[in-house]
Amino acid sequence: MSLTEKIPLILDGDPGHDDAIAWVLAKGSGRFDILAVTTAAGNQTIEKTTYNALRVCTLIGLHVPVAKGCPRPLLTDPMNAPSVHGESGLDGPALPEPAFAAQSIGAVELMARVIRSSSEKVAIVSTGPMTNTAAFLMAHPELKSRIRCISLMGGGLLYGNWTPAAEFNILVDPEAAKIVFDSGVPILMSGLDVTEKALVKPADFERIRSLHNPVSDIVWQWLEFFYRFHKTLGYEGAPMHDPCAVMALIHPEVFTMRDYYVQIETCGDYCKGATVPDWYGVTGHAPNACCLMDVNREAFIDCLIDAVSAFKEAGI
Ligand code: BDR
Ligand code: CA
Repeated sequence: MSLTEKIPLILDGDPGHDDAIAWVLAKGSGRFDILAVTTAAGNQTIEKTTYNALRVCTLIGLHVPVAKGCPRPLLTDPMNAPSVHGESGLDGPALPEPAFAAQSIGAVELMARVIRSSSEKVAIVSTGPMTNTAAFLMAHPELKSRIRCISLMGGGLLYGNWTPAAEFNILVDPEAAKIVFDSGVPILMSGLDVTEKALVKPADFERIRSLHNPVSDIVWQWLEFFYRFHKTLGYEGAPMHDPCAVMALIHPEVFTMRDYYVQIETCGDYCKGATVPDWYGVTGHAPNACCLMDVNREAFIDCLIDAVSAFKEAGI
């Protein structure tokens, strides 16, 4: 991919502070042709994440079709994360009210229309439970080959964060994650292995605060809010889980990556929602995911700050 070629992209997520920052990165980088935004139930209910998505899109000047996603996981009961993101799903600084409404069609239909009509293969960045993407793959198998890749935040090869074995996005909808990982579509997996190393530290908040543009003024406050919760757990900064899934597409050089065959545990007393890597190739399966394992944190932060500073230049 040349630096001038824009990647056609669908953003699917459950904003959420780190989802919102991922979308700021996607827009501010100038490296994507963002075709649509679809919302997932996860950090909060689908009503709340859709409202948040519209507010974030309004803030960053992302005027593309936004569609509401599936209201609940494929099989399991819904689960939200107010302890991390607040009751609104995006607590913290006041945001603009939506300048436009969500589409009358749902996320799966919008994904299908966008992917069908794109002249190039479309990437999906998935930063919430993968319900929409899985439902899309089941409903439109004929469009699978039109997906360039699914760059997702989910899982952790070594450990979880919502249970000892499972990360939140996978735990909320393990069946959906299994469909995605088993789909044969190229997968870039940003799991906790890397996202918990992609920390924005308090000194970095200051760099963003000093940019003084309408988006940076919100981003540093999101970071402070997000860090407040993580600090109580001993983190040295705010983990940029979801931005890793965007960064992997435009700055792969800041990451160390390894290919593994990753299976999703959909049941079990202790390990439901675990992402199980075949470290030694004992299953005989070819790898199905390119897994991000480590990050050059300083380079990552520089790229993120570049993207946030672009909003001033763009006059947004
Ligand atoms: C993931 O869970 C959510 O709370 C975040 O937005 C991120 O997508 C991290 O486990
Ligand atoms: Ca998320």
